[in-house]
This record gives sequence, C-alpha cells and structure tokens, in this order.
Amino acid sequence: MTDVLRQMVQETRLCPADLIYPVFVTRSNPGPIDAMPDVYRHTISEAVDIARRAADAGVSGLMLFGIPQSKDEHASRALSASGVISDTVEAIKNEGLNLVIITDVCVCSYISHGHCGIVHDDVVSNDETLPVLAQMAKIHADSGADIVAPSAMMDHQVHAIREKLDSSGHEHVSILSYSVKYASSFYGPFRDAAGGAPAFGDRKTHQMDSANRLEAMREVDLDIAEGADLLMVKPALAYLDVIHMISQHRPHIPLVAYNVSGEYSMVKAAAKQGYVDEASVVLEILTSIRRAGSKSVITYHALDVARWLQKS
Ligand code: PBG
Repeated sequence: MTDVLRQMVQETRLCPADLIYPVFVTRSNPGPIDAMPDVYRHTISEAVDIARRAADAGVSGLMLFGIPQSKDEHASRALSASGVISDTVEAIKNEGLNLVIITDVCVCSYISHGHCGIVHDDVVSNDETLPVLAQMAKIHADSGADIVAPSAMMDHQVHAIREKLDSSGHEHVSILSYSVKYASSFYGPFRDAAGGAPAFGDRKTHQMDSANRLEAMREVDLDIAEGADLLMVKPALAYLDVIHMISQHRPHIPLVAYNVSGEYSMVKAAAKQGYVDEASVVLEILTSIRRAGSKSVITYHALDVARWLQKS
C-alpha cells in the first residue's frame, strides 16, 4: 500500500519519453571511448541499430555528434552534403521510426585547432563563423533532421540559422539552442570522444562563467528573440538552480538539460568501484534534473534508464 500511495502523490515522474540519447558517429575510428565507459564511437549502421533500440524503448530522440575523417582550418567536412551526420540522419530517417533526430551544430570536432569557430590570429571570429553554422544546419535539415542544436555559443547564431533554414524550405525544422552553456570542466570526457579539445586557449571567451546565474536569463532572452524553439542548459547537475530559474521565468518554452559526459563518467567510475549503486544514483540524478524544471534530459544513461523504467 505504501508504495502505491507514494506513487500516487509523487510530484515528479521520470519516463523514457523525457530522455534524449547522444550518439557519436564516425566512419574512420569506431570503438570504445576510454573516458566514457559503455559509450562508443559508432559506425553509421550501428547508429541505425541504436535508433531502433531507442525508439523501441520509448526514448524521445537522439542527439547526433559527427566525428569526421579529417579536420582542417575551415571545418570543410562539416559542410559536405555527404558528411557523416547527413548520411546518418538519412539512414535513420529511412527507418521511419518514431524518434526525433537532433543534430549538434558546431565546428569544434571538424576544425584542426578544436575551437568552436573560425580562428584568425588565435582569436575566434564570431561573424565569420555564423555562415558556416547556418550552412551546416541547412545540410542537416536537407538530410531530414527534425531539430538542429547549435552549440558553438556564437552571438546571433540562432538568428543566422533560422534565416538560412527558412530561406531553404526548412521552416518546420526546429532550433534547440544551447543557450546557457557554461565553460565547464565536466566536458572533459566528451572532448576525448569527439577529439574536440582546443589546441590552445580555452572557451571562456564564449562560454559562460559558472559563477553567473542572472546572465543566463540574458542568453535565454536573446535566443528566444532570435527564434529558438527549445532552450538548453548545460551541464545539468551543477546548475540545477539555473534550470529552476529559467523554468520558472520562461515556462512557455521547452527546457532541455544536458547531463554531460563528466557527470556520466563520474557515476560510472564510482559505480564500478562499488561506491554507489548505479541505477538508483542515476534515477535520483535524472529525477532531480526534471524536478528542477527541465522538460527533457539529454543523457548517456538514456538507454539503460529506459530499460530500468520498463522493468520497474
Ligand atoms: C561542442 C559540444 C561539447 C559538448 C556538446 N557539444 C563540448 C564543448 O563545448 O567543449 C559537451 C557534451 C558533453 O560533455 O557530454 N561544442
């Protein structure tokens, strides 16, 4: 009786539909990612299998990250119509699954120096990067992406992408903006996965200071004005107050939180040592992110969680 009563009065529920699963896709070096146990760089056909599994498990969407065969100073592979992401999106879309396909729009894994934009004299050039991001988003939309997710944190990127999508017949493609992206050390394992660590300097010029909360509202309002359909806060766990604030003050726009690679790997490492119980810690973390006010959570735990929830 107590169990059912607890369930009846439960304020926050977590279900597979709340989850989005990030997937790394590559043609050149598939395999395990050292810093992220049980996460892999996948081939395109593996990504299609994962899409089927995710749809079967009731997960809402996949967030795709491409790892190109080669990198250069202009991020050329990000602009190729037969790039790894375009081909993956097409292959998944051919399956006709009930699954939202989101693509990451940023040049850092395609560019030789690993920064999120075109660089001149060691400085990221915001305005030269905008057309590149817009073109990348258009290519993803051409191949069938439902949502594009610009993560470069360039000023006016949402506007540039919206214009490009609208003028190329993709009015229906939504933009999930990484509006509130902190300069965080929790991205470390991701950079190992995607090979996108900056070769010099850091991202503090364009990512937010973890000490700031109110600044997040400014970022959010700029992105809403530029046409963002969904907003993201990243990372999630160390920024629950920020998630809460945005969800309270801008409740009309869906909020997505990214439970990032460092948050994932910490839990996996502790669980492996037997210090914590993986399933219950993960469910508690994801519930807390939902409780703070996030509608959806992007998490590397998504497929496991969907399985655990189906069993319970
Ligand atoms: C690329 C990007 C990053 C992440 C998502 N998109 C890396 C970064 O900003 O350095 C991090 C995701 C994660 O850590 O799981 N701009």
